[in-house]
Amino acid sequence: MIIAANLKTNLTRSATHKYMQEIEKYSKASSSEVIIFPAMTSLDNFKIDKTIVGAQNAYPTVNGAFTGEIGLEQLDEFGIKTILIGHSERRHILHESQEFLVEKFNYFKKLGFKIVYCVGEPKAIREAGKEEMLTYITKQYEGIDTTYENLIIAYEPVWAIGTGITPTLEDIEDVHTELKKKSPAPLLYGGSVKVNNAKEVLNLNNVDGILVGSAALYAEHFGLMIQYSDEL
Ligand code: PGA
Repeated sequence: MIIAANLKTNLTRSATHKYMQEIEKYSKASSSEVIIFPAMTSLDNFKIDKTIVGAQNAYPTVNGAFTGEIGLEQLDEFGIKTILIGHSERRHILHESQEFLVEKFNYFKKLGFKIVYCVGEPKAIREAGKEEMLTYITKQYEGIDTTYENLIIAYEPVWAIGTGITPTLEDIEDVHTELKKKSPAPLLYGGSVKVNNAKEVLNLNNVDGILVGSAALYAEHFGLMIQYSDEL
């Protein structure tokens, strides 16, 4: 199982240090792969062995004139070899296009990065029906090497992120079963995963792990989810 936390624009560097130490205890006791994506300014050399630290974003460059972005040089400083690409907040709030995401994907793939690539449909598309939804999500696979060995895919319905609303367990399993036909990569579910639903989600067919936002900000909650993954 893969248990990942996207901390988004939360926690200071010192709070992240504390968080990492707590998570490392759960991570060490678990057979699951635990990945944490801290805020950019909280990237650092953490005294951890098992937990993987990834970047929430980076520009496809070693360095250069890209105001507000970080590149490979900044990731290398902390030995970061894992990146999140295509998160719905970057697609919808920051308007990153599929073409640009493909450019990022190819850049970091060439470097052998572990890539957690996110897909997912907005509410109106989900309401338009299953066919529309699958057509929409299929477009998010365009240009992506779905057989890349270090690829992890995360299915995150946009309307479920940060809202406390999730698809039914049947719907999650159904979409995952469809998406598994597109790529052999491990497939995570994300969108309002909490302590009280994590076990059920992890138990579904074709769910290889979870990507957690808000609920992961509490180390004990996220730690419990790591424990659950070993109980299945
Ligand atoms: P959420 O976020 O758990 O707060 O819904 C998930 C994500 O954005 O990865």
